Amino acid sequence: MVADTMRIVTVIGNRPQFIKAAGVSRLLRERAEEVLVHTGQHYDDELSRVFFEELDVPAPDRELAAGSGTNTAQTARMLAALEPELRSLAPALVLVYGDTNSTLAGALCAAQLSLPVAHVEAGMRSFDRHMPEELNRVLTDHASDLLLCSTQTAVENLEREAAAGERHLVGDVMADVSLAARAIAERRSRALDEHGVTSGDFLLVTAHRAGTVDVPDRLLRLVELLEALPTTTVFPLHPRTRVRLDAAGLLQRLERAPQLRLAPPLGYLDFMTLARHARAVLTDSGGVQKEALLLGVPCVTLRDSTEWVETVESGWNTLVDLHADAALAALERGRPPGDPPDLYGDGRAGERIRDIVSSYTRSP
Ligand code: UD1
Ligand code: UDP
Repeated sequence: MVADTMRIVTVIGNRPQFIKAAGVSRLLRERAEEVLVHTGQHYDDELSRVFFEELDVPAPDRELAAGSGTNTAQTARMLAALEPELRSLAPALVLVYGDTNSTLAGALCAAQLSLPVAHVEAGMRSFDRHMPEELNRVLTDHASDLLLCSTQTAVENLEREAAAGERHLVGDVMADVSLAARAIAERRSRALDEHGVTSGDFLLVTAHRAGTVDVPDRLLRLVELLEALPTTTVFPLHPRTRVRLDAAGLLQRLERAPQLRLAPPLGYLDFMTLARHARAVLTDSGGVQKEALLLGVPCVTLRDSTEWVETVESGWNTLVDLHADAALAALERGRPPGDPPDLYGDGRAGERIRDIVSSYTRSP
């Protein structure tokens, strides 16, 4: 590495961020020295290590082991652990992704040290401030110098909020990864056989958001909705969800539902294969809504708001919250006619991010 190469610290910490980094890190390293810091927010192999291995994400250079606990306690631990790292690394820029506690901690710590911040997936808004992710997004955007947006809607949200950073529409980096991994998944994954399902004849579910699983009444409604589903359904359980179901005595009830196949969290290639072959996907995830559209699979979103509004406007995603009847009606409607629109770029967001980030200098 030549002496004047720009040093960039990338802060990542959980599943969707490992996937996003797969679309950027290798490219960034063509132009800059990247130091990858893993906050430890997700620490189980099936939520962390598997993505580094499958998607060839460079191994983390620093691991902060700052996972678990409430949002406040977790963010505080990350800030305390990040500060000495960022001070000693003294990067030219700090790169963060998405809307999690790791995102906010990376951006806030960098901003407090007067280091420039670049935010990938800037400007996404669900306009629901009860969601921890919405708070993380808004605060991160307003601490950032480079606002790298997936959609025109995101650019407009930032204009309306008069966010001070430089705005760039780069496309969506998860779309890059999804497009690049499709053929590999098709070749390598045996997920259909392993879960005993047939292409086009099953549903795939994910649910883990605090708003879905942390409120007992809503958790019960999720269980009732799943029990009402009309066909074989694969449900890989996020650890938060497993813990909540178990504590509420609802795990055994789900295990008894004849059409439900509970599974551990899946690797990206297996998840992608199941999503691609599912009749529909039901989810409260942000990333999965986008991926369903990219794969041309109808999505039923178990929330009453989304930051990925174009998926709904295009007819490929229906917001049903936890209303079982609305979910069943959406499944009955099936796919809209034709192919899904091209909403998230051409698979080259990572290249644009590399170009913008590696040539950035903050004006004095
Ligand atoms: C976090 C993000 C959420 C994102 C999700 C991606 C925040 C506020 N939330 O939610 O936006 O959609 O990651 O999957 O940042 N746990 C384990 N093993 C792990 C990680 C977590 O068992 O490797 C359990 C712990 O009990 C932990 C709980 O899951 O307390 C919640 O984990 P946490 O990272 O706080 O939030 P997520 O629900 O994963
Ligand atoms: N995903 C996965 N295995 C699973 C569930 C999800 O690989 O069992 C992937 C999915 O393909 C998507 C990402 O994880 O790329 C979404 O992450 P998650 O739902 O945890 O977070 P969110 O996007 O809601 O922040």
